[in-house]
Parts: sequence; structure tokens; C-alpha cells
Amino acid sequence: MSADTTQVTEFWNNVFASDSSIERPAIDDPDLQNALRHFGDVQGKRLLDIGCGKGATSLFFAQHGAEVVSVDFSEVAIENLKKFCRANNIPNIQPVLLRAQEIETIGPFDGVFGSLILHHIEPFNDFAAILRRTIAPGGKGFFIENNASSKLMLWVRKHIVGRLWITRLSDGEEFPFEPAEVEMLRAHFDVDVEYPELLYFRLISAYLFRCRMMKPFEILDNFFYRYPGFRRCSYRQYVKLS
Ligand SMILES: C[S@@+](CC[C@H](N)C(=O)[O-])C[C@H]1O[C@@H](n2cnc3c(N)ncnc32)[C@H](O)[C@@H]1O
Repeated sequence: MSADTTQVTEFWNNVFASDSSIERPAIDDPDLQNALRHFGDVQGKRLLDIGCGKGATSLFFAQHGAEVVSVDFSEVAIENLKKFCRANNIPNIQPVLLRAQEIETIGPFDGVFGSLILHHIEPFNDFAAILRRTIAPGGKGFFIENNASSKLMLWVRKHIVGRLWITRLSDGEEFPFEPAEVEMLRAHFDVDVEYPELLYFRLISAYLFRCRMMKPFEILDNFFYRYPGFRRCSYRQYVKLS
């Protein structure tokens, strides 16, 4: 493991050591319901949750009857999830300490899910091929990702975030998911990108005003969502593979 990887793993270990609480997501969570629609009936299917973190999304799919393998490179995250599954008698989640780049060793899977993980994985071109070999023929992938499409957002991220009172929340190595990386997936899969909402103006409230005055920014997001040019700049996207 390189020095950079060790530092990043430590960053995530600290995150999960300082907050080990695990909450089940709402059964009607719109993102996860969307994922479920894409995967179809997951009962008895082998599903991989990459970069599972606390494992809330794994709990959701396990509740729907999937045999979930939850992987993360943070040993603290994996230990927390193992304890939670033991304490709550959840037999159909198997937490595994593993780097995303190694998932082929535990495949194949009927479905692969990830929330905010693809943009952490490098080199992404190699990973796209690994992912193809990890998903069984006819299987699917569903990823909830951030998005590097907006040049303005990238400028703000580079020059404003991390200064004054605006806290940088990332692990230092990560960069939002890039359109070029979507194209790398297209070399192996049918890819459908969907923007469930416009998350753009609300970031102004989140970063500059610590989530105060959210309402006017939400109105702007809702209004501009109807324009495809704006929609593509949303900071949140679904990347669906089949
Ligand atoms: C932004 S968090 C997302 C956690 C969770 N999926 C969620 O949505 O709440 C990113 C997670 O990916 C893990 N991670 C980052 N890079 C990874 C890699 N190369 N292999 C495995 N896990 C990784 C981190 O430990 C962390 O748990």
C-alpha cells in the first residue's frame, strides 16, 4: 500500500471511529428505491456494496432479501458493521475488508451497488474492466455519485473550499466523478446516467451559509432542473450499468 493510500485509509478509519452509529435507511428512501427498480427482485441474489462505510445501504438490500457482501478498506467500518450484524442477528450481510480494486477475487455478483465510491477509485480505467469481470453476465450495477461536470463548481472547490470558514470534507485524494470516467464505463457496459434532482445552488447554502437560507436555493434548483444544460451540472447523479 502506498503512503497516500495509508493516509486515506487512516482518514476513513478516524471518521468511523469517531461515529460508530449505524442507522437503517428509510424503506422508502428514493435513491435506494431507484436502485431496487434497476436491479429488479433482489431476493436471494448476490449483491456487492462497494465502499459500504457504515453499511446502511447494505442493510437496505439485505432487508429486501439479497445476500449482500459489503466491502470497504476501512477496518473500523468493517468491524462496526460486523458487530451490528451480530448484535441484530442479520445473517445475510457479509462484511469484508477489501480494496475496491480487488473485488474480482470475490465475484461474480448479480448486482454491484456503490454510494459515493467510484470517484475514490484509481486508476479508474483499470477498475472499469475489473467491474465488468466482477458482474455476472446479465447482472447490473447502480452507483450514486457526485459529478465533476460543472467548471464553476470545480473552480470553487479548488479556490474557495478549505479557506476562511468553509470546511473541506473530503479525504484529500478524492476528486468528483468525471464525465471521462463515465466514458470508461461505456467501454464495458450499457450506461444510463440520470440526474434525480438538480443539486447546484443548494451547495452555496451548504458551503457558504452552513445550510442556513436553504429554501431560496432549493427553489432555484427546482426551477433550473427543467433545463438539460443545468441538469447535467447537478452534483449528484445515478450511474446505471447493464
Ligand atoms: C464517501 S464514503 C461513502 C460511504 C457509504 N457508501 C455511504 O454512502 O455512506 C466512501 C467510503 O469508501 C471507502 N473507500 C474509499 N476508497 C476505497 C477503496 N479504494 N476501496 C474500498 N473502500 C474505499 C471509505 O472507507 C468510505 O467508507
